[in-house]
Amino acid sequence: MRILVTGVTGQVGGALAARLPPPAIVLAADRSVLDLAAPRTLAGTLDRLAPHLIFNPAAYTAVDKAEDEPELAMRINAEAPGALAHWAAARDVPLIHFSTDYVFDGSGARAWREDDTPQPLSVYGASKLAGENEIRGAGGTFLIVRTSWVYAADGKNFLRTIARLGRERSELRIVADQIGAPTSAALIGDAVAGMLSEGLEALRDRCARAGGLVHLAASGETSWHGFASAIVEGLKARGVALTVERIVPIASKDYPTKARRPQNSRLDLSRLKSIFGIAPPPWQDALAPELDRLARELTSTNGG
Ligand SMILES: NC(=O)c1ccc[n+]([C@@H]2O[C@H](COP(=O)([O-])OP(=O)(O)OC[C@H]3O[C@@H](n4cnc5c(N)ncnc54)[C@H](OP(=O)(O)O)[C@@H]3O)[C@@H](O)[C@H]2O)c1
Repeated sequence: MRILVTGVTGQVGGALAARLPPPAIVLAADRSVLDLAAPRTLAGTLDRLAPHLIFNPAAYTAVDKAEDEPELAMRINAEAPGALAHWAAARDVPLIHFSTDYVFDGSGARAWREDDTPQPLSVYGASKLAGENEIRGAGGTFLIVRTSWVYAADGKNFLRTIARLGRERSELRIVADQIGAPTSAALIGDAVAGMLSEGLEALRDRCARAGGLVHLAASGETSWHGFASAIVEGLKARGVALTVERIVPIASKDYPTKARRPQNSRLDLSRLKSIFGIAPPPWQDALAPELDRLARELTSTNGG
């Protein structure tokens, strides 16, 4: 089976490509192979690659920058997934696409279910929701996997930012009124690659039973402040020399950003459990191996 994975230089794409078991042939496509900013070129490339299954974690993920580049965000996050989906649906090729908690407005305190009405607060969220709608409109066999607060020991993400600031500053001020579940790319990679373990027909059946949409995140919840505190404590416990002494909780209104973010990013995981049989670990458990990797890197490069 030939499996196309987009965005392999990213967190989720990298984790996923590394986990697809043989005899699958992984077609690892970076932007030089498939440029999602040029949706009209995609069908020709797909004809050439001829995948039997497509994973599309590639996306325009710069949440604040998207406010200034709405057309580009829309092209990459909506038009391009639409083009992939039309190609896939016409050939009965399943498409597994990734989306975000940022499709919701963050109201209330209950975990968002798949059938709750999305109402994005940002251009990024709106572009990801438009991508979901394009895929749904194309039909065929598809699964949109909404996840939240993605990080990994490598890449560009909150974990690495805190590790850097924790070695530069004595005090960090971190937002404490946005609640969600930090989710490692490894957790997503394990779960999604695992969906293939019973074969393509079983996956098709589950995609249909899920109505093409499922939430996937670590279990439990915290704030960015709670996540930062766990990172700092975890790195210190692993022998990384940090300068930070205080992590001060602040409100979103005291940390203005170009894009508005949801305050409630909790994702309900019942469908993931009932249809895919996946019960994700607590976010703290998924964080531990990433801290191990990061601490090894930081201590072996003398804190560099
Ligand atoms: N990061 C999060 O916190 C988060 C939260 C919820 C949902 N998600 C969703 O989860 C998925 C995976 O996110 P991630 O964290 O793995 O993202 P990421 O680390 O930012 O990686 C994004 C990937 O998309 C690629 N890409 C960007 N523009 C492209 C283009 N024009 N053509 C082809 N490839 C392009 C990037 O390639 P380059 O390396 O060449 O730029 C990179 O490989 C995305 O759908 C995202 O919306 C992410």
